[in-house]
Amino acid sequence: MQKKKKALTSKKSLLKKSIAVPKKSFSKEIERTKTGINGFDELVEGGIPRGAFVLLSGGTGTGKSIFGMNFLASGIDLNEPGVYISLEESYDENRLQMQLFGWDIEEMQRQKKLIIAQPKMYDFDRLIELLQDAVTSIGAKRVVIDSISILELYFKDKFDTRHSIINLSTALKEIGVTTIAITEIDEGTGRLSRDSVEEFVSDGVIVLHIEKKDNIMSRAISVRKMRATNHSMKIHPMKIEKKKGIVIYPFEESFEDYK
Ligand SMILES: Nc1ncnc2c1ncn2[C@@H]1O[C@H](COP(=O)(O)OP(=O)(O)OP(=O)(O)O)[C@@H](O)[C@H]1O
Ligand SMILES: [Mg+2]
Repeated sequence: MQKKKKALTSKKSLLKKSIAVPKKSFSKEIERTKTGINGFDELVEGGIPRGAFVLLSGGTGTGKSIFGMNFLASGIDLNEPGVYISLEESYDENRLQMQLFGWDIEEMQRQKKLIIAQPKMYDFDRLIELLQDAVTSIGAKRVVIDSISILELYFKDKFDTRHSIINLSTALKEIGVTTIAITEIDEGTGRLSRDSVEEFVSDGVIVLHIEKKDNIMSRAISVRKMRATNHSMKIHPMKIEKKKGIVIYPFEESFEDYK
């Protein structure tokens, strides 16, 4: 026990060095959206580049929707309204899950700081229109799309899917919002998205992991890419905690035994 603690502490100081912001970095000039998620901004030089289209990728139950909601709830605390496009889960499920973390989404919506939209029928042009209207109506600065994996079901091939995602990210950039686009991956494939398409058209990729060792499963997070950012290259432990939401440990690393 004692020994483990010591090992962690020494790693802590090493990691602090390895993810420190470089003294002279061009990215200093880049305006950033502070996610406000506990421990995340330390991994990406203080935040996601403003206006970026970032993929949040992970297997089922890795915490993608909670991360997305946390991003919007923290944004509201920072005076940045948000839009959540839920293409899969029902409003009630979202509301219940948010409440457990202390995020009163109904009040946020009443105060016009949050819009949760659930387009029923999938129509790509309509989705972009809906997004533009929602963002304009509350002056949103953040958007979460849960999930864009569904786009793959509506387009014939990878070319069309890629084209539609480029259109979507271009439209969102024109509106000037920072976007988290959730994508589901099948565990064990090593892919960053289902068809390996989305990661090429996005500015960043955040990956949520669940790793199993003996009879214990642990959550973790890594930043696979983030344009204009000297991001952490480690896999960091992550927890989902009641009243807090996502908690990341930026100065610790996961799966030490795999190295
Ligand atoms: N109140 C809570 N406290 C701690 N952990 C929770 C709580 N609520 C949910 N979780 C954990 O979060 C997981 C669900 O997170 P979330 O819905 O964000 O996952 P997801 O990656 O979006 O999953 P899916 O692929 O089903 O959409 C649950 O399986 C559970 O492990
Ligand atoms: Mg989900």
